Amino acid sequence: MAYQTIKGMYDVYGEEYRYFEKIDTLFKHFAELYGYEMIKTPILEYTGVFKKDNDTSDMVTKEMYTFTLNNKDYLTLRPEGTAGVIRSFVQNKMYGNELPVKLAYIGEMFRHERPQKGRQRQFNQLGIENIGNKDPLIDAEVIAFGYFFLKTLGIKDIKVLLNSLGDYDSRLNYKKALSDYFKDYEAELCGDCKDRLFKNPLRILDCKIDREKEFVRNAPKMSDYLSEDSLHYFDKVQMYLKALDIPFMIDDRLVRGLDYYTDTVFEVVSTNEESGAQSTIFGGGRYDNLVKEMGGPELSGIGFAIGEERLLILAKAEGIFTKEEKSLDAYVVNLLRDDPYALEVLSILRANSYSGEMDYYNRSLKAQFKSADRRKVRFTIIVGEDEKKTQSVNVKDAKTKMQDNVRLDDLIDYLDEKMGEEYE
Ligand code: HAM
Repeated sequence: MAYQTIKGMYDVYGEEYRYFEKIDTLFKHFAELYGYEMIKTPILEYTGVFKKDNDTSDMVTKEMYTFTLNNKDYLTLRPEGTAGVIRSFVQNKMYGNELPVKLAYIGEMFRHERPQKGRQRQFNQLGIENIGNKDPLIDAEVIAFGYFFLKTLGIKDIKVLLNSLGDYDSRLNYKKALSDYFKDYEAELCGDCKDRLFKNPLRILDCKIDREKEFVRNAPKMSDYLSEDSLHYFDKVQMYLKALDIPFMIDDRLVRGLDYYTDTVFEVVSTNEESGAQSTIFGGGRYDNLVKEMGGPELSGIGFAIGEERLLILAKAEGIFTKEEKSLDAYVVNLLRDDPYALEVLSILRANSYSGEMDYYNRSLKAQFKSADRRKVRFTIIVGEDEKKTQSVNVKDAKTKMQDNVRLDDLIDYLDEKMGEEYE
Protein backbone atom coordinates (compact mmCIF):
# COMPACT_ATOMS: atom_id res chain seq x y z
CA MET A 1 0.00 0.00 0.00
CA ALA A 2 1.40 3.39 -1.02
CA TYR A 3 0.65 5.93 1.67
CA GLN A 4 -0.32 9.53 1.03
CA THR A 5 0.14 12.51 3.35
CA ILE A 6 -2.77 13.35 5.64
CA LYS A 7 -5.26 15.76 4.04
CA GLY A 8 -4.12 19.36 4.48
CA MET A 9 -0.50 18.37 5.14
CA TYR A 10 2.28 18.60 2.56
CA ASP A 11 5.86 17.56 1.89
CA VAL A 12 8.29 20.41 1.39
CA TYR A 13 11.26 19.59 -0.84
CA GLY A 14 13.41 20.82 -3.72
CA GLU A 15 13.18 24.49 -4.59
CA GLU A 16 10.22 24.94 -2.24
CA TYR A 17 12.49 23.90 0.65
CA ARG A 18 15.09 26.42 -0.48
CA TYR A 19 12.47 29.20 -0.50
CA PHE A 20 11.52 28.32 3.08
CA GLU A 21 15.18 28.50 4.05
CA LYS A 22 15.61 31.91 2.44
CA ILE A 23 12.65 33.25 4.39
CA ASP A 24 13.90 31.66 7.63
CA THR A 25 17.38 33.11 7.17
CA LEU A 26 16.07 36.63 6.66
CA PHE A 27 13.72 36.24 9.61
CA LYS A 28 16.60 35.17 11.89
CA HIS A 29 18.60 38.14 10.65
CA PHE A 30 15.72 40.44 11.57
CA ALA A 31 15.47 38.78 14.99
CA GLU A 32 19.10 39.67 15.53
CA LEU A 33 18.65 43.24 14.27
CA TYR A 34 15.71 43.81 16.62
CA GLY A 35 17.29 42.05 19.60
CA TYR A 36 15.15 38.88 19.73
CA GLU A 37 16.50 35.49 20.90
CA MET A 38 15.32 32.42 19.01
CA ILE A 39 13.33 29.88 21.05
CA LYS A 40 12.05 26.35 20.32
CA THR A 41 9.15 25.04 22.38
CA PRO A 42 7.64 21.54 22.09
CA ILE A 43 5.10 20.91 19.36
CA LEU A 44 3.01 18.91 21.85
CA GLU A 45 1.75 20.61 25.03
CA TYR A 46 -0.85 19.97 27.71
CA THR A 47 -4.19 21.08 26.30
CA GLY A 48 -4.59 23.64 29.10
CA VAL A 49 -1.75 25.69 27.63
CA PHE A 50 -4.05 26.60 24.74
CA LYS A 51 -7.53 26.13 26.12
CA LYS A 52 -8.71 28.53 28.80
CA ASP A 53 -12.11 28.58 30.53
CA ASN A 54 -14.78 30.24 28.42
CA ASP A 55 -12.61 30.25 25.30
CA THR A 56 -14.72 31.14 22.27
CA SER A 57 -12.26 31.20 19.37
CA ASP A 58 -12.78 28.71 16.54
CA MET A 59 -9.15 27.74 16.82
CA VAL A 60 -9.55 26.49 20.40
CA THR A 61 -13.10 25.21 20.28
CA LYS A 62 -13.09 23.47 16.88
CA GLU A 63 -9.69 23.19 15.28
CA MET A 64 -7.27 21.68 17.77
CA TYR A 65 -5.70 18.24 17.36
CA THR A 66 -6.29 17.00 20.90
CA PHE A 67 -6.01 13.48 22.26
CA THR A 68 -5.59 11.68 25.55
CA LEU A 69 -2.69 9.52 26.57
CA ASN A 70 -3.22 6.68 29.03
CA ASN A 71 -6.70 8.04 29.62
CA LYS A 72 -5.34 10.82 31.76
CA ASP A 73 -3.23 13.46 30.02
CA TYR A 74 -4.99 15.75 27.56
CA LEU A 75 -2.42 16.72 24.94
CA THR A 76 -2.66 19.07 21.97
CA LEU A 77 -0.53 19.68 18.88
CA ARG A 78 0.16 23.39 19.07
CA PRO A 79 -2.22 25.44 16.91
CA GLU A 80 -0.12 28.61 17.38
CA GLY A 81 3.16 29.70 18.97
CA THR A 82 2.26 32.37 21.53
CA ALA A 83 0.77 30.17 24.27
CA GLY A 84 3.76 27.79 24.33
CA VAL A 85 6.23 30.68 24.44
CA ILE A 86 4.38 32.28 27.35
CA ARG A 87 4.23 28.91 29.12
CA SER A 88 8.00 28.69 28.72
CA PHE A 89 8.49 32.32 29.87
CA VAL A 90 6.62 31.48 33.08
CA GLN A 91 8.03 27.98 33.62
CA ASN A 92 11.62 29.14 33.17
CA LYS A 93 11.04 32.30 35.24
CA MET A 94 12.32 34.48 32.42
CA TYR A 95 10.52 37.38 34.10
CA GLY A 96 13.53 37.47 36.44
CA ASN A 97 15.61 38.77 33.47
CA GLU A 98 15.73 42.35 32.30
CA LEU A 99 12.40 43.21 30.70
CA PRO A 100 11.14 43.09 28.06
CA VAL A 101 12.10 39.53 27.19
CA LYS A 102 12.14 39.28 23.40
CA LEU A 103 11.67 35.83 21.84
CA ALA A 104 11.35 34.72 18.22
CA TYR A 105 10.35 31.34 16.82
CA ILE A 106 9.90 29.39 13.60
CA GLY A 107 7.89 26.20 13.54
CA GLU A 108 5.01 23.98 12.54
CA MET A 109 1.48 24.61 13.82
CA PHE A 110 -1.58 22.38 13.45
CA ARG A 111 -5.21 23.39 12.93
CA HIS A 112 -8.00 21.13 11.77
CA GLU A 113 -9.49 23.60 9.30
CA ARG A 114 -11.00 22.96 5.88
CA PRO A 115 -7.93 22.93 3.59
CA GLN A 116 -7.73 25.37 0.67
CA LYS A 117 -5.07 27.52 -0.98
CA GLY A 118 -3.14 29.20 1.83
CA ARG A 119 -4.90 27.17 4.49
CA GLN A 120 -3.32 23.92 5.60
CA ARG A 121 -3.76 21.64 8.57
CA GLN A 122 -0.03 21.74 9.18
CA PHE A 123 1.64 25.06 8.42
CA ASN A 124 4.62 27.11 9.54
CA GLN A 125 4.68 30.33 11.50
CA LEU A 126 7.45 32.85 12.01
CA GLY A 127 6.63 34.70 15.20
CA ILE A 128 7.91 37.07 17.83
CA GLU A 129 6.78 37.83 21.39
CA ASN A 130 7.91 40.91 23.32
CA ILE A 131 7.01 40.26 26.96
CA GLY A 132 7.17 42.38 30.09
CA ASN A 133 6.52 46.04 29.27
CA LYS A 134 3.54 47.91 27.96
CA ASP A 135 4.36 50.96 25.90
CA PRO A 136 3.01 52.14 22.54
CA LEU A 137 6.63 52.43 21.38
CA ILE A 138 6.93 48.66 21.69
CA ASP A 139 3.69 48.11 19.77
CA ALA A 140 5.01 50.27 16.92
CA GLU A 141 8.38 48.50 17.01
CA VAL A 142 6.77 45.04 16.82
CA ILE A 143 4.68 46.06 13.81
CA ALA A 144 7.80 47.62 12.26
CA PHE A 145 9.66 44.30 12.59
CA GLY A 146 6.99 42.47 10.58
CA TYR A 147 6.43 45.25 8.06
CA PHE A 148 10.10 45.88 7.25
CA PHE A 149 10.78 42.14 7.18
CA LEU A 150 8.21 41.76 4.38
CA LYS A 151 9.51 44.86 2.58
CA THR A 152 13.11 43.61 2.76
CA LEU A 153 11.99 40.32 1.28
CA GLY A 154 10.70 42.42 -1.62
CA ILE A 155 6.95 42.15 -0.94
CA LYS A 156 5.00 45.10 -2.28
CA ASP A 157 1.29 44.28 -2.33
CA ILE A 158 0.38 44.55 1.34
CA LYS A 159 -1.60 46.77 3.64
CA VAL A 160 -1.48 47.06 7.42
CA LEU A 161 -4.81 47.02 9.25
CA LEU A 162 -4.90 48.33 12.81
CA ASN A 163 -7.46 48.42 15.58
CA SER A 164 -7.72 48.68 19.33
CA LEU A 165 -9.85 46.27 21.34
CA GLY A 166 -9.37 48.42 24.43
CA ASP A 167 -8.41 47.45 27.94
CA TYR A 168 -10.46 45.14 30.17
CA ASP A 169 -13.08 47.79 31.12
CA SER A 170 -13.51 49.06 27.58
CA ARG A 171 -13.99 45.50 26.35
CA LEU A 172 -16.59 44.77 29.01
CA ASN A 173 -18.63 47.85 28.08
CA TYR A 174 -18.35 47.08 24.40
CA LYS A 175 -19.37 43.44 24.82
CA LYS A 176 -22.47 44.56 26.70
CA ALA A 177 -23.36 47.05 23.96
CA LEU A 178 -22.90 44.32 21.32
CA SER A 179 -25.04 41.74 23.11
CA ASP A 180 -27.81 44.31 23.61
CA TYR A 181 -27.64 45.18 19.94
CA PHE A 182 -27.44 41.60 18.56
CA LYS A 183 -30.27 40.34 20.78
CA ASP A 184 -32.68 42.06 18.39
CA TYR A 185 -31.20 40.05 15.52
CA GLU A 186 -30.84 36.70 17.27
CA ALA A 187 -33.07 34.88 14.79
CA GLU A 188 -30.85 36.01 11.89
CA LEU A 189 -27.58 34.84 13.44
CA CYS A 190 -25.91 31.57 12.41
CA GLY A 191 -25.90 28.68 14.91
CA ASP A 192 -22.39 29.47 16.18
CA CYS A 193 -23.14 33.16 16.58
CA LYS A 194 -26.29 32.46 18.60
CA ASP A 195 -23.89 30.81 21.04
CA ARG A 196 -21.36 33.63 20.74
CA LEU A 197 -24.06 36.17 21.61
CA PHE A 198 -23.79 35.08 25.23
CA LYS A 199 -20.20 33.93 25.42
CA ASN A 200 -18.33 36.52 23.33
CA PRO A 201 -20.38 38.73 20.98
CA LEU A 202 -17.12 40.23 19.64
CA ARG A 203 -16.61 37.00 17.68
CA ILE A 204 -19.79 37.72 15.67
CA LEU A 205 -17.97 40.61 13.99
CA ASP A 206 -15.50 38.29 12.27
CA CYS A 207 -17.78 35.27 11.78
CA LYS A 208 -17.16 33.76 8.34
CA ILE A 209 -20.92 33.39 7.81
CA ASP A 210 -22.40 36.49 9.45
CA ARG A 211 -19.78 39.19 9.06
CA GLU A 212 -21.10 40.61 5.76
CA LYS A 213 -24.74 40.82 6.89
CA GLU A 214 -26.09 44.35 6.95
CA PHE A 215 -26.97 44.35 10.66
CA VAL A 216 -23.48 43.08 11.57
CA ARG A 217 -21.90 45.86 9.51
CA ASN A 218 -24.02 48.40 11.37
CA ALA A 219 -23.18 47.07 14.83
CA PRO A 220 -21.79 49.50 17.46
CA LYS A 221 -18.13 50.37 16.91
CA MET A 222 -15.39 49.54 19.40
CA SER A 223 -13.91 53.02 19.00
CA ASP A 224 -16.98 54.49 20.72
CA TYR A 225 -16.33 52.37 23.81
CA LEU A 226 -12.60 52.83 24.35
CA SER A 227 -11.61 54.16 27.76
CA GLU A 228 -9.59 57.40 27.95
CA ASP A 229 -6.43 55.38 28.60
CA SER A 230 -6.99 53.03 25.69
CA LEU A 231 -7.79 55.90 23.32
CA HIS A 232 -4.68 57.73 24.35
CA TYR A 233 -2.59 54.56 23.99
CA PHE A 234 -4.01 53.85 20.52
CA ASP A 235 -3.33 57.45 19.38
CA LYS A 236 0.29 57.07 20.36
CA VAL A 237 0.70 53.77 18.51
CA GLN A 238 -0.61 55.49 15.38
CA MET A 239 1.65 58.48 15.89
CA TYR A 240 4.73 56.26 16.19
CA LEU A 241 3.80 54.20 13.13
CA LYS A 242 3.54 57.43 11.13
CA ALA A 243 6.95 58.49 12.44
CA LEU A 244 8.35 55.20 11.12
CA ASP A 245 6.68 55.74 7.71
CA ILE A 246 4.56 52.62 8.03
CA PRO A 247 1.28 53.15 6.17
CA PHE A 248 -1.75 51.67 7.93
CA MET A 249 -5.54 51.73 7.84
CA ILE A 250 -7.82 51.64 10.86
CA ASP A 251 -10.24 48.72 10.58
CA ASP A 252 -12.69 48.95 13.43
CA ARG A 253 -14.06 45.48 12.68
CA LEU A 254 -10.70 43.82 13.15
CA VAL A 255 -11.15 41.66 16.25
CA ARG A 256 -8.68 38.80 15.47
CA GLY A 257 -9.47 35.11 15.85
CA LEU A 258 -8.02 34.51 19.31
CA ASP A 259 -9.41 35.48 22.68
CA TYR A 260 -6.35 36.79 24.48
CA TYR A 261 -5.97 40.20 22.81
CA THR A 262 -6.30 43.58 24.53
CA ASP A 263 -5.67 47.08 23.13
CA THR A 264 -3.60 47.01 19.93
CA VAL A 265 -4.40 44.40 17.28
CA PHE A 266 -3.15 44.33 13.70
CA GLU A 267 -3.08 42.29 10.53
CA VAL A 268 -1.10 42.57 7.35
CA VAL A 269 -3.11 41.50 4.33
CA SER A 270 -2.12 40.87 0.75
CA THR A 271 -3.66 43.03 -1.94
CA ASN A 272 -2.41 40.73 -4.71
CA GLU A 273 -5.33 38.96 -6.39
CA GLU A 274 -3.38 35.77 -7.03
CA SER A 275 -2.85 35.08 -3.33
CA GLY A 276 -6.44 33.77 -3.05
CA ALA A 277 -9.03 34.11 -0.32
CA GLN A 278 -6.57 33.51 2.52
CA SER A 279 -4.96 36.91 2.26
CA THR A 280 -3.86 37.54 5.85
CA ILE A 281 -0.10 37.19 5.80
CA PHE A 282 0.35 37.92 9.46
CA GLY A 283 -1.54 38.97 12.52
CA GLY A 284 -0.86 39.83 16.10
CA GLY A 285 -1.58 42.07 19.00
CA ARG A 286 -1.13 42.89 22.64
CA TYR A 287 -2.17 40.59 25.46
CA ASP A 288 -2.39 42.05 28.98
CA ASN A 289 -3.61 38.95 30.79
CA LEU A 290 -2.03 35.90 29.16
CA VAL A 291 1.13 35.76 31.32
CA LYS A 292 -0.97 35.93 34.47
CA GLU A 293 -3.45 33.34 33.16
CA MET A 294 -0.51 31.05 32.53
CA GLY A 295 0.48 31.31 36.18
CA GLY A 296 3.05 34.12 35.88
CA PRO A 297 3.20 37.67 37.17
CA GLU A 298 1.00 40.47 35.86
CA LEU A 299 2.97 41.40 32.75
CA SER A 300 1.76 42.48 29.36
CA GLY A 301 3.13 41.21 26.06
CA ILE A 302 2.73 41.76 22.35
CA GLY A 303 3.67 39.76 19.26
CA PHE A 304 2.75 38.57 15.81
CA ALA A 305 2.98 35.46 13.67
CA ILE A 306 3.53 35.28 9.93
CA GLY A 307 2.03 32.37 8.00
CA GLU A 308 5.05 31.16 6.03
CA GLU A 309 3.10 29.25 3.35
CA ARG A 310 0.89 32.28 2.71
CA LEU A 311 3.94 34.50 2.50
CA LEU A 312 5.42 32.11 -0.05
CA ILE A 313 2.26 32.18 -2.19
CA LEU A 314 2.42 35.99 -2.21
CA ALA A 315 6.18 36.07 -2.86
CA LYS A 316 5.71 33.80 -5.88
CA ALA A 317 2.74 35.83 -7.15
CA GLU A 318 4.93 38.93 -6.99
CA GLY A 319 7.75 37.17 -8.85
CA ILE A 320 10.20 37.36 -5.94
CA PHE A 321 10.83 33.64 -5.83
CA THR A 322 11.25 32.23 -9.29
CA LYS A 323 12.43 28.78 -10.24
CA GLU A 324 16.18 28.61 -9.95
CA GLU A 325 18.54 25.70 -10.41
CA LYS A 326 20.58 24.67 -7.45
CA SER A 327 24.15 25.63 -8.30
CA LEU A 328 27.16 23.39 -7.92
CA ASP A 329 30.84 24.48 -8.06
CA ALA A 330 32.40 21.34 -9.46
CA TYR A 331 31.62 17.99 -11.09
CA VAL A 332 34.20 15.21 -10.96
CA VAL A 333 34.26 13.13 -14.13
CA ASN A 334 35.39 9.76 -12.86
CA LEU A 335 37.14 7.44 -15.32
CA LEU A 336 38.42 5.03 -12.66
CA ARG A 337 36.71 1.84 -11.60
CA ASP A 338 36.57 0.50 -8.05
CA ASP A 339 38.87 3.29 -6.92
CA PRO A 340 38.41 5.99 -4.26
CA TYR A 341 40.57 8.66 -5.97
CA ALA A 342 37.58 10.66 -7.31
CA LEU A 343 36.00 10.55 -3.87
CA GLU A 344 39.26 11.81 -2.33
CA VAL A 345 39.22 14.75 -4.75
CA LEU A 346 35.61 15.51 -3.86
CA SER A 347 36.43 15.32 -0.20
CA ILE A 348 39.21 17.93 -0.59
CA LEU A 349 36.83 20.20 -2.50
CA ARG A 350 34.09 19.96 0.13
CA ALA A 351 36.50 20.45 3.01
CA ASN A 352 37.38 23.76 1.35
CA SER A 353 33.78 24.88 0.81
CA TYR A 354 33.52 23.95 -2.87
CA SER A 355 30.32 22.02 -3.51
CA GLY A 356 30.73 19.03 -5.77
CA GLU A 357 29.30 15.85 -7.21
CA MET A 358 30.78 12.92 -9.10
CA ASP A 359 29.79 9.97 -11.25
CA TYR A 360 29.30 6.64 -9.45
CA TYR A 361 28.10 4.51 -12.35
CA ASN A 362 31.09 4.26 -14.70
CA ARG A 363 29.14 6.08 -17.37
CA SER A 364 30.76 7.15 -20.62
CA LEU A 365 32.88 10.32 -20.73
CA LYS A 366 30.20 11.95 -22.86
CA ALA A 367 27.40 11.14 -20.40
CA GLN A 368 29.44 12.46 -17.49
CA PHE A 369 30.21 15.73 -19.30
CA LYS A 370 26.50 16.07 -20.00
CA SER A 371 25.76 15.76 -16.27
CA ALA A 372 28.32 18.47 -15.54
CA ASP A 373 26.69 20.72 -18.16
CA ARG A 374 23.20 20.11 -16.84
CA ARG A 375 24.32 21.20 -13.39
CA LYS A 376 25.90 24.34 -14.84
CA VAL A 377 29.13 23.81 -12.94
CA ARG A 378 32.01 26.21 -13.25
CA PHE A 379 34.68 23.48 -12.94
CA THR A 380 34.64 20.02 -14.50
CA ILE A 381 37.40 17.98 -12.91
CA ILE A 382 38.54 14.90 -14.79
CA VAL A 383 40.31 12.03 -13.07
CA GLY A 384 41.68 8.85 -14.72
CA GLU A 385 44.60 6.45 -14.35
CA ASP A 386 47.25 9.02 -15.38
CA GLU A 387 45.94 11.66 -12.99
CA LYS A 388 45.89 9.18 -10.15
CA LYS A 389 49.47 8.13 -10.87
CA THR A 390 50.69 11.73 -10.84
CA GLN A 391 48.37 12.75 -7.97
CA SER A 392 46.87 15.43 -10.17
CA VAL A 393 43.53 16.33 -11.82
CA ASN A 394 42.48 17.96 -15.08
CA VAL A 395 40.37 21.05 -14.49
CA LYS A 396 38.17 22.46 -17.22
CA ASP A 397 36.88 25.97 -16.53
CA ALA A 398 33.46 26.56 -18.11
CA LYS A 399 34.06 30.31 -18.04
CA THR A 400 37.44 30.52 -19.80
CA LYS A 401 37.05 27.17 -21.66
CA MET A 402 40.69 26.46 -20.63
CA GLN A 403 41.85 23.10 -19.33
CA ASP A 404 44.83 22.66 -16.98
CA ASN A 405 46.52 19.75 -15.30
CA VAL A 406 46.83 20.69 -11.62
CA ARG A 407 48.61 18.87 -8.80
CA LEU A 408 46.19 17.75 -6.12
CA ASP A 409 48.14 19.69 -3.50
CA ASP A 410 47.66 22.88 -5.53
CA LEU A 411 44.02 22.32 -6.49
CA ILE A 412 42.39 24.59 -3.92
CA ASP A 413 44.87 27.46 -4.51
CA TYR A 414 44.25 27.06 -8.23
CA LEU A 415 40.44 27.22 -7.84
CA ASP A 416 40.65 30.10 -5.34
CA GLU A 417 42.73 32.06 -7.80
CA LYS A 418 40.26 31.41 -10.64
CA MET A 419 37.36 32.50 -8.45
CA GLY A 420 39.31 35.53 -7.23
CA GLU A 421 39.83 36.71 -10.82
CA GLU A 422 36.08 37.33 -11.07
CA TYR A 423 36.27 40.07 -8.50
CA GLU A 424 39.26 41.91 -9.97
P1 HAM B 1 -3.25 33.86 13.82
O1 HAM B 1 -3.86 35.05 13.18
O2 HAM B 1 -4.15 32.80 14.29
O3 HAM B 1 -2.37 34.42 15.05
O4 HAM B 1 -2.17 33.23 12.85
C1 HAM B 1 -1.12 34.00 12.32
C2 HAM B 1 -0.92 33.70 10.85
O5 HAM B 1 -0.72 32.31 10.67
C3 HAM B 1 -2.12 34.02 9.98
O6 HAM B 1 -2.15 35.37 9.65
C4 HAM B 1 -1.84 33.15 8.76
O7 HAM B 1 -0.93 33.78 7.89
C5 HAM B 1 -1.19 31.94 9.38
N1 HAM B 1 -2.17 30.84 9.48
C6 HAM B 1 -3.11 30.65 10.41
N2 HAM B 1 -3.83 29.53 10.18
C7 HAM B 1 -3.30 28.99 9.04
C8 HAM B 1 -3.59 27.81 8.28
N3 HAM B 1 -4.54 26.95 8.63
N4 HAM B 1 -2.85 27.58 7.16
C9 HAM B 1 -1.87 28.43 6.79
N5 HAM B 1 -1.54 29.54 7.48
C10 HAM B 1 -2.25 29.83 8.59
C11 HAM B 1 -1.64 33.63 15.85
O8 HAM B 1 -1.39 32.48 15.66
C12 HAM B 1 -1.07 34.39 17.03
N6 HAM B 1 -0.30 33.45 17.83
C13 HAM B 1 -0.23 35.56 16.57
C14 HAM B 1 0.34 36.30 17.72
C15 HAM B 1 1.61 36.23 18.20
N7 HAM B 1 -0.33 37.16 18.48
C16 HAM B 1 0.47 37.62 19.45
N8 HAM B 1 1.63 37.04 19.27
